[in-house]
Amino acid sequence: MNPELNHVPIEQATAWRKLQEHAREMRTTHLRELFADQSRGAAFTWQAAGLTLDLSKQRWTDTTRHLLLDLAREAEVPQRIQALLSGERVNVSEDRPALHTALRLPADASLVVDGEDVVPGVHRSLERMAVMVERLHSRQWRGATGRPIEDVVNLGVGGSDLGPLMVTCALVDHRPAVTHHVEVHFASTMDGSQLADYLKRFNPETTLFVLSSKSFTTIDTLSNARTARDWLMARLVEDDIRGVSEDLVLRQHFIGISAKPDKMSEWGIAEANQLLFWEWVGGRYSLWGAIGLPIALVVGMANFRELLAGAHAMDTHFAETPLEDNLPVLLALAGVWNVNFLGIGAHSILPYDGRLEHFAAYLEQLEMESNGKSATHDGREVSYSTCPVLWGQLGPNAQHAFYQLLHQGTQPVVCDFIAPLKRYDDVEDAATRDHLQAQHRLTLANCFAQSRLLMLGDDAIDEPGERPGHKRYRGNQPSSTLLLDRLTPATLGALIALYEHKVFVQAAIWGINPFDQWGVELGKQIAGETERMLAEGRGHETMDASTRALIEAVWKAERQT
Ligand code: F6P
Repeated sequence: MNPELNHVPIEQATAWRKLQEHAREMRTTHLRELFADQSRGAAFTWQAAGLTLDLSKQRWTDTTRHLLLDLAREAEVPQRIQALLSGERVNVSEDRPALHTALRLPADASLVVDGEDVVPGVHRSLERMAVMVERLHSRQWRGATGRPIEDVVNLGVGGSDLGPLMVTCALVDHRPAVTHHVEVHFASTMDGSQLADYLKRFNPETTLFVLSSKSFTTIDTLSNARTARDWLMARLVEDDIRGVSEDLVLRQHFIGISAKPDKMSEWGIAEANQLLFWEWVGGRYSLWGAIGLPIALVVGMANFRELLAGAHAMDTHFAETPLEDNLPVLLALAGVWNVNFLGIGAHSILPYDGRLEHFAAYLEQLEMESNGKSATHDGREVSYSTCPVLWGQLGPNAQHAFYQLLHQGTQPVVCDFIAPLKRYDDVEDAATRDHLQAQHRLTLANCFAQSRLLMLGDDAIDEPGERPGHKRYRGNQPSSTLLLDRLTPATLGALIALYEHKVFVQAAIWGINPFDQWGVELGKQIAGETERMLAEGRGHETMDASTRALIEAVWKAERQT
């Protein structure tokens, strides 16, 4: 184990004990009492990189915040940030750095890791990506029969899907005309249902598949890839349209993105069509490089570089700003306070902008796969909570679904409200612009009303007399509000980097490694064994009674078809 990580277990830190005492004192304080202080809104709001973070509706005071900052110092957060950004081997269990921040360093920067400056390689990779993007945009990339590619399907899952999917959807307004000849689609599910739908609709002559997999062993992606390859071969080679060869199909219809060039070659991806990235980029932190190819295809390389620049602006803020004004640190500390001292184990992500439709799903992986852990760096079982259960969806739609529980349920939940301040000012037609801007105002009004009601409860309205039980709102549910000046490649980059760093700071405090994911491995192994039993029709005798019966049900169903 890295000796630098061998600090005092966090629950024995002085600040931890003080926070426990302070939480006991705070238990009876309602958020509405804290807002008796009129300066509270401004005092708990910070700005950086085009983002405004309002943490005033968190159930905390200045004392809380200072104790949490002491906790961060005792957990050596500044040293950990330095270790992360300088390329130390912070991913201890896999003995490697976690250098997603290097993917967004400008070309004139330098970062020497193990004696080598990694920045030139990062920019060579971006250049290689730019060449592919240009060939596709200019209709120079042709399928095996000579027709230009029109549909690109990304086959990947987890980090090789969620980041690109989320960003392409969020930045759809930033599509330059040059990208309009190519449509980008995503298929991730191992059951093939998304892919099957595309195969019904797309023309094999003009369809290209991007196989995105860091490990190039993920069965979900490889199953989709096999189906896609068979579909192309059946339709382009076996039908013998124009004497098209298998090699030509592989060369013209597949791009591979991975950290494993040998495995890509073995699969049949031509070397010229391989985009490589490094083992030191974690899957859920990988949208900033080659895995971001679908993003660049949708928004163009210039916007992709803006996304990187926005993330880099947040990295710089994270690296250089004192803890007390550091947005990722403050967001992380609010989370630690909620989970470890107020006992709030549920966290909802609520964007108020339809373009952020996939943001909650993206954060679910980022936060829960990173910090959903109970062993510290030295293998100790933690005695405190780590990552809360995190879920969400578009706020306005969730208002008609699970907000009932937020307002009147028995679970305390912390919410992140996310919205852009400006929207639709680029719509040319004046009447349409007015209507859409009115809709945006309506959306912001709902966003602000919901966080206020969650905070104040019944006091949010001026109505005399006691309300009957079923109409009572107790309030006191904490939330954060994140405003983007507008949703652009740069502010989105900053927003994502903000959450990445928040996750890192929390992991530093909890003493866990946010960059591995051993908890997903055993399930894959057991699924492999189970698949063999299903296919062979035997071997399940040693299994538990429930799983045995489920397997038998499948065998029976197969016999009947
Ligand atoms: O099984 C989990 C996981 O390893 C994620 O961490 C990762 O993002 C996803 O699978 C996909 O992995 P790969 O890019 O190697 O196919």
